Amino acid sequence: MTTSTDHGLSKFHRLLVEQLRHEFTASQQYIALAAWFDSRDLPQLARVFYYQSLEERDHAMMILRFLIDSDVPATIPATDEIRNEFDTPRDLVALALRQERAVTDQFHLLAKTARDENDYTGEQFLQWFLKEQTEEVAKMSTLLAVMDRANGNMFDVESFVARDMPDTSGGESDAPATAGPATS
Ligand SMILES: [Fe+2]
Ligand SMILES: [Fe+2]
Repeated sequence: MTTSTDHGLSKFHRLLVEQLRHEFTASQQYIALAAWFDSRDLPQLARVFYYQSLEERDHAMMILRFLIDSDVPATIPATDEIRNEFDTPRDLVALALRQERAVTDQFHLLAKTARDENDYTGEQFLQWFLKEQTEEVAKMSTLLAVMDRANGNMFDVESFVARDMPDTSGGESDAPATAGPATS
């Protein structure tokens, strides 16, 4: 979407403003997944997605910090449509994996654009996000594989998640600063 505030922005900065919406959408979508698990007495899966939602919010606030510091006018967007209806637990994790893969593609395009436009600062800013996306795709991919292996036994999935998916992301000292306090 092009608005008058886009005028004069580089393509990289326009994509970054859009990425703010993608991260807020991811955050809100993960609340929907968490609430679905929560209301079906699957507290460990709920915990993972509530926490993941906070991480996505932080990603948005890191981008907002960068936009403000770079004097790029950023308006706070509404999110895209959030999906709340699912048939099986697997559908939620499959959606999460699709979402993480889509976000990874978005960051690859951002990185390519920064490079094409010789935006060295922008390219540097993206490095942490590229690494983060590798971790998040791997995490959701593992969770989906565990669900398939459990073959409908949600007690096994909950046990795995309780044991192997703690909230602490760890080693985040290189994470970009957020606008306002970080939540996770
Ligand atoms: Fe994110
Ligand atoms: Fe993510």
